[in-house]
Amino acid sequence: MKTIKDLNVENKKVILRVDYNVPIQDGKVIDNNRIKQSLETINYLKEHNAKIILMSHLGKIKSEEDKEKNTLLPVKEELESLLNEKIKFSHELKGKELEDLVNGLNPKEILLLENTRYMDYPNKLESNCDKELSSYWASLGDVFVLDAFGSAHRAHASTYGISEYLLHAVGFLIEKELKELDIIKNETKTIILGGAKVSDKIGVIKNLLPTSNKILIGGAMCGTFLKSQNINVGNTFVEEEKIEEVKKLIDQDKIILPIDVVTENGIKEINNISNDESIFDIGPKTIELFTSHLENEKLVLINGTMGLYENPKYENGTKELFNYLLSKKVKTVVCGGDTGNASKKYNFTPYYLSTGGGASLEYLEGKELPTLKIMEDKNEQ
Ligand code: 3PG
Repeated sequence: MKTIKDLNVENKKVILRVDYNVPIQDGKVIDNNRIKQSLETINYLKEHNAKIILMSHLGKIKSEEDKEKNTLLPVKEELESLLNEKIKFSHELKGKELEDLVNGLNPKEILLLENTRYMDYPNKLESNCDKELSSYWASLGDVFVLDAFGSAHRAHASTYGISEYLLHAVGFLIEKELKELDIIKNETKTIILGGAKVSDKIGVIKNLLPTSNKILIGGAMCGTFLKSQNINVGNTFVEEEKIEEVKKLIDQDKIILPIDVVTENGIKEINNISNDESIFDIGPKTIELFTSHLENEKLVLINGTMGLYENPKYENGTKELFNYLLSKKVKTVVCGGDTGNASKKYNFTPYYLSTGGGASLEYLEGKELPTLKIMEDKNEQ
């Protein structure tokens, strides 16, 4: 796979596709990790006198109201403050106004385009990787750099589409993500998994089980695992269609389930959950059990929280595990925005915080990410 250093970007118009799909509240970016992680590539391009055309999606656009809610203007502000310079912004994604802005760029200058998914309404041109749109966007630049790791599982016009028409390479963030996730894939580790749905994680469990010492399961998804062992989980969300698959995984002995939990009525042994209760966190005995499995661990992957950590009543599991990892200085890779937010809340700085949500999970599942695949294939030609 070609990397940015293999491209001649000197004085070139470089289209840089980043993933600035970041949480925004009251017009302000509230988690800037993805923006910060794009700076290395941006700064490299500036040092090499490129004219930088930045593109990203934000949210999903299915109506005119969605457009209003998902403008990239707050991202522009955040990027300006991180770079300590003004950048240009194009409200248009096609047409003369945009072309004039592109053609007026000087070396080292940055132009951020409005949310690429504006082109998804009324026709899903971006998400359906429309050929005309892809070639039009490609015509704006001389070369293409893909650094949107978080979107690498999406074959959209601004990712996959542009790379069909322009000389291209991946940026520093994608290089770093692949390096760190390959370590997690191949080295022996313990995995802490949480979150709501088993179906999101089952592929990762299957793929990483052979290289894992243990997989510790918390979060609402433990409901499906416990139910597969004929434990009554009350009102906890269960994915019935996954029970048989989950049963087979548990037979492999590496999966560790909670032995007590926290429901709306407090701490409960798992054999004591009533029909009208739901699991909101793991209990103190489970925290002890999980930490005992982490005791001599050199590498940990954590994806998903142990409970509804936003509510102080249900934060203990997540908080205590982060505290433990912090005290033992375990090399920990964190995947997923929510898990990243939780780690921040408990002052835990992971060894590596992946910028990919779905993309990281699919990569860890062993799936081929379409946009990365085209970057490889095209370069072989
Ligand atoms: C993400 O946040 O996972 C990526 O930006 C992809 O977003 P999407 O799921 O809306 O395509």
